[in-house]
Amino acid sequence: MTEQKVNPGLEWDLGWAEEAWSRAEAKIVRNARTIGAAYPNGTKDGHYVRGPEHDWVAGFWPGLLWLAYRENGNEELRRVAEACERQLAETLQTYDLLHHDVGFMFSLSSVAQHRLAEASGRGGDADAKRHALIAANLLAGRYNPQGEFIRAWPNWDEEDHAGWAIIDCLMNLPLLHWAGREIKDPRYKHIAIRHADSVLRDFVRPDGSVCHIFRYDPETGTPIESLAGQGYAADSAWARGASWALYGFALCYRYTGEMRYREAALRVARFFIERLPEDAVPYWDFFLPEADRELMPRDSSAAAIAASGLLELTELLTASEGAGVEDAAWCRISAERIVRSLCDRYAEWGDEHEGLLRHATGYYSRGVYVDESLIYGDYFFVEALAKLRGRKELFW
Ligand code: GLY
Repeated sequence: MTEQKVNPGLEWDLGWAEEAWSRAEAKIVRNARTIGAAYPNGTKDGHYVRGPEHDWVAGFWPGLLWLAYRENGNEELRRVAEACERQLAETLQTYDLLHHDVGFMFSLSSVAQHRLAEASGRGGDADAKRHALIAANLLAGRYNPQGEFIRAWPNWDEEDHAGWAIIDCLMNLPLLHWAGREIKDPRYKHIAIRHADSVLRDFVRPDGSVCHIFRYDPETGTPIESLAGQGYAADSAWARGASWALYGFALCYRYTGEMRYREAALRVARFFIERLPEDAVPYWDFFLPEADRELMPRDSSAAAIAASGLLELTELLTASEGAGVEDAAWCRISAERIVRSLCDRYAEWGDEHEGLLRHATGYYSRGVYVDESLIYGDYFFVEALAKLRGRKELFW
């Protein structure tokens, strides 16, 4: 059992996390045989619906395979993950189908593959590295210098998205930081910082809640309004949006060392943790009408993302001097509370259901994957378990 001490006064008993890791890892190995090199998204009738390579979720399955491979060296997992990466790289030709989420897609496939090849002493993976660098350039190319934000989607559904930025995009910024460091060019970092600062100013409210979408005038860059997006309302707090913000700002802090990102991550974290129901897994939005709330589905994916983000914050705060140590202990305790509840009440270890975490909500208002498993919920759940076992290196 790996023991991790973030506070000299506290001892962690992680037998339960070790047990959960073994069960998750065994299920990933079994799923690799049935899913193969494909792109699962959410479940329906117990099976993962597979989507196209250009779907924003396409990096999570190879990412899960790499998480397990990193611990067990199972060559079958490596072969499937590499096949996913090769197919994913073909989408780099389909420019109009890609968007801000190339960070999710290529950090967990190409960057992970390259990082693991580097760690194994093979000097990296040149093809995977090139694919990730091309993806980083596509992401940088979405930057609006007038409004200082990264544009979200293309114009789908005849809706003009030229001025739209979304909270999820914070999780795509590590691809820019990684690329800038790889090729020693600060432009990528400059874009990542400007975007993060716009998000800090326009998305994060004083109470630590965040909106999903913010609209700017794409010509003048003037901030205009927040939009509901996947949340209940423009002024509500979509649970997964909060978890993207928590983890996203923690990663901004990791890459820049700027205290304003650390403070933002903690502000969002306090909002998130203080409003959790008793089992530590949020309803799909934090500001649902009181009368409907208890009838509404949970979003276990938001819980898993937040837990992994809190463990990242724990790591960063522990490494910092002074006041960070108390915050580190609070983050660690909060993360453990969530992961423990996911293991005890939400995890599905058997094969009758392909997903690992039940009761996640994709897009409630459109009825897409409501109260199902989501591949990104599974990914962050397993990432959090890996961290609880002492893993510190990230694919991000
Ligand atoms: N990035 C889209 C979502 O979180 O559903």
